[in-house]
Amino acid sequence: MTIRRILHYPDPRLRRQANPVPEVTDDIRRLVDDMAETMYDAPGIGLAAIQVNEPWRLIVIDISQTRDRLQVFINPEILSREGEQELEEGCLSVPGIYEPVARAHSIRARALNRDGQAFEIEAEHLLASCIQHEIDHLDGKVFVDYLSRLKQSRIRKKLEKQQQLAM
Ligand code: NI
Repeated sequence: MTIRRILHYPDPRLRRQANPVPEVTDDIRRLVDDMAETMYDAPGIGLAAIQVNEPWRLIVIDISQTRDRLQVFINPEILSREGEQELEEGCLSVPGIYEPVARAHSIRARALNRDGQAFEIEAEHLLASCIQHEIDHLDGKVFVDYLSRLKQSRIRKKLEKQQQLAM
């Protein structure tokens, strides 16, 4: 397994539309394992393939305290949304920034697991926000997009400065 480099906002590669995974092959499983390792190492609670520069519809999530409940969603789709909540979100592609984002409180989603088997899940609270956040990534969206223009431009400047310092 390999820890992959995570793209940072405002990298334009985060704006790509991810492609559906045509078949869950060993290559895809290797990518899943790399993404899990990258997420745990960061550490974070969710990661979309697009964030490691792999434009596939694939996300990994682990919201457990014990960090041993990996959830893999390949070609995820939200079937229904209910209610509303506003939770503070962060993102491994937007380091150091935490802002509240309004999303559905509970969702029903379907996806394929690491073995390529279809499953459905009902999620609420943190897991619901997390799944919605990660699926946004697959459509080229970052949580910063939900914030005011002023906040977006502050965050962009701050991260561009950090990236210059890191070079
Ligand atoms: Ni994110």
